[in-house]
Amino acid sequence: MYPIALKLHLAFVILSLVIFVIRLVLSLTGSKAAESRLALMATLGSMLMVVLTAGTLAVTTGQFPFADGWLTEKLFALIGYIALAIAALKTQAKAMQLVLAVGAIGAFGMAMAVAHRHAGLFL
Ligand code: HEM
Repeated sequence: MYPIALKLHLAFVILSLVIFVIRLVLSLTGSKAAESRLALMATLGSMLMVVLTAGTLAVTTGQFPFADGWLTEKLFALIGYIALAIAALKTQAKAMQLVLAVGAIGAFGMAMAVAHRHAGLFL
């Protein structure tokens, strides 16, 4: 179970970022496709799979947010990534979209760094 869940976790984590960047570019170029049903479904589906595979990995490795500091950090990084990504796609001003997108990608990078270290940056 663990090796499959880990591969799926990595695949959906990367897919979620790819989908976000594509939607951001579409939004910056004024395309309505950024808010299309397909784009929304792809975002929801990939994020749901990130959360489900994260939960499966937590159970199979016996490590949990609020019990293991590095997973608490990853959870907050994921929440920050989602919140900033939504804000970046909803904002009208292009400069602010870019600032929020850099924040979202920063939160994503933090989750990656914590994952690779298997240790928190702060906790
Ligand atoms: C954007 C958010 C996330 C990213 C980028 C991410 C990334 C990763 C990566 C790269 C790994 C492989 C680490 C390695 O062994 O080298 C991993 C494993 C893992 N992730 Fe995530 N993850 C995210 C969110 C979460 C969340 C919210 C949880 C909360 C439960 C979580 C739980 C886990 C667990 C339990 C493992 C397996 C750790 C182990 O093998 O001991 N992930 N994640």
